[in-house]
Amino acid sequence: MDALERYIHDFSAPEEELLRELDRETHLRVVAPRMLSGHIQGKLLELLVRMLRPRRILEIGTFTGYSALCMAAGLDAEGELHTTEVDDELEPLAQSFFDRSPHGSKIRLHIGSALAIAPALGGVFDLVFIDGDKREYPDYYRMLMGDDGRRPLVRSGSVLIADNILWSGKVVEPVARSDRHTQALLEFNRMAAADPRVENVILPLRDGLNLIRVK
Ligand SMILES: C[S@@+](CC[C@H](N)C(=O)[O-])C[C@H]1O[C@@H](n2cnc3c(N)ncnc32)[C@H](O)[C@@H]1O
Repeated sequence: MDALERYIHDFSAPEEELLRELDRETHLRVVAPRMLSGHIQGKLLELLVRMLRPRRILEIGTFTGYSALCMAAGLDAEGELHTTEVDDELEPLAQSFFDRSPHGSKIRLHIGSALAIAPALGGVFDLVFIDGDKREYPDYYRMLMGDDGRRPLVRSGSVLIADNILWSGKVVEPVARSDRHTQALLEFNRMAAADPRVENVILPLRDGLNLIRVK
């Protein structure tokens, strides 16, 4: 961690002990632990939830549950967070941490693709954290906005937060035709910027967040 990063950590609200433990466990037991949101992004998610006061949250990509726990901490007692994960091997670790958290009862973990699960949950979502397979980001957008022929899963005032949209800076470099991750992220960012139904801003935090509000 460089000096500026250290300063940001030191002068932001501290990380909860359970989250610190989950970060450690993820690094010990899971492949690609860097996928976890981490202290500063997690705290931002918690604060955004506290400020926006959504009743229903959808998360696409649970991984080991770090971002879900952060958002659940900011959620009102009657709120609910539906988090979706395709990899069933991650379920026991994520669920064990949800069970230990005072906020875990607000979280419903669904194993399978968000593209199949989310429409079947019924109703709309006030906040969506998009953090699944980068190649599927355009499909997630079409699903949420109802552009896939199904009903929309968001309403006026809903907020989408998409993670990794700068993809380590690859979005401004020449892109190989075979690089489907970067191609899809570029398409997602273009879709949001060109869509008159939404307003958005890209935040350069960590790997980039696209903050999108449905008008
Ligand atoms: C970057 S990680 C999520 C990190 C987590 N949100 C956090 O901040 O701690 C991405 C996860 O999305 C999952 N995933 C990929 N495609 C998905 C899909 N269609 N539906 C749900 N989860 C998906 C992957 O298996 C992986 O665990």
